Amino acid sequence: MGLALARSRAARGDEVIVLGRDPRLLGGTGHFLRVDLSDVADTLRVIEVVRERWPVVDAVALFANGQGPRRVETRQGLERTFALYYLSRYLLGRAFRDRAAVIVNVAGVGITKGTIAWDDLQLTHGYGMVRAQLQAGRLNDLLGVVQSGAKARYVLYHPGFTRSGELSPLPAPLRVAIKVAAALKARPVEESIRPVHGWLDHPPAAPLTAVDRGRELPLSLSTLDAGQARRLELSTEQILLRAGAVRSD
Ligand SMILES: NC(=O)c1ccc[n+]([C@@H]2O[C@H](COP(=O)([O-])OP(=O)(O)OC[C@H]3O[C@@H](n4cnc5c(N)ncnc54)[C@H](OP(=O)(O)O)[C@@H]3O)[C@@H](O)[C@H]2O)c1
Repeated sequence: MGLALARSRAARGDEVIVLGRDPRLLGGTGHFLRVDLSDVADTLRVIEVVRERWPVVDAVALFANGQGPRRVETRQGLERTFALYYLSRYLLGRAFRDRAAVIVNVAGVGITKGTIAWDDLQLTHGYGMVRAQLQAGRLNDLLGVVQSGAKARYVLYHPGFTRSGELSPLPAPLRVAIKVAAALKARPVEESIRPVHGWLDHPPAAPLTAVDRGRELPLSLSTLDAGQARRLELSTEQILLRAGAVRSD
């Protein structure tokens, strides 16, 4: 979805900066910066590159994620799903929330499944791929609450089941099952990203907007609790301190 958005924004004449791993996918459109977003140091490095080369960034759209059938730790000793799906978005949001007009975080707002293991955010006990995805999804919901209220309007967006998603890390039977289900039920990528164009063109007036497919969600949702959001911000800053990460905002 991120790639499709980048291509279509570039086709509309926007200057697009893509942070990712494979420049070939972009086919020469936009600026490509290679980064491993699961690595805190590399993410902070690329943030500095963007801030030096592009003093004005109008919008930030966050899509990167990946499935982790087994628990893997990053160089900073963090669980990979946590680091990639949640922490990279925390760092990018923190760096651009006072600069950009809008930040769109594409994750799973509206889903209430999943728990946050406050005493074991790195899931050292009882790791599971779905558990890690659901936890990081709920952390992204709270991230919207943490980082709203700055210059950037923050949008949490759940695109629904979409014909995208890298399935290669998954076991073969699960890959086949998802592909069959996707052919029958999933939305085309262009349809899922359509609202994102709208938010980039016209940032919402509200500091925080949460949309599950076409439905705007009430901010009173239990997954958007302000107290838990404050707790998350504190925990995240402590984790970054322990990981030796320098502030970049
Ligand atoms: N697809 C769905 O049905 C669905 C449903 C609900 C929510 N969502 C959410 O929507 C968002 C986008 O999903 P999607 O379907 O577009 O996912 P996707 O097709 O799997 O794309 C994920 C992107 O993240 C990049 N990425 C993965 N690891 C990276 C790393 N370490 N450093 C830099 N980039 C990395 C991938 O790059 P490479 O090409 O290099 O791997 C890829 O471009 C995700 O947050 C997902 O959870 C998706």
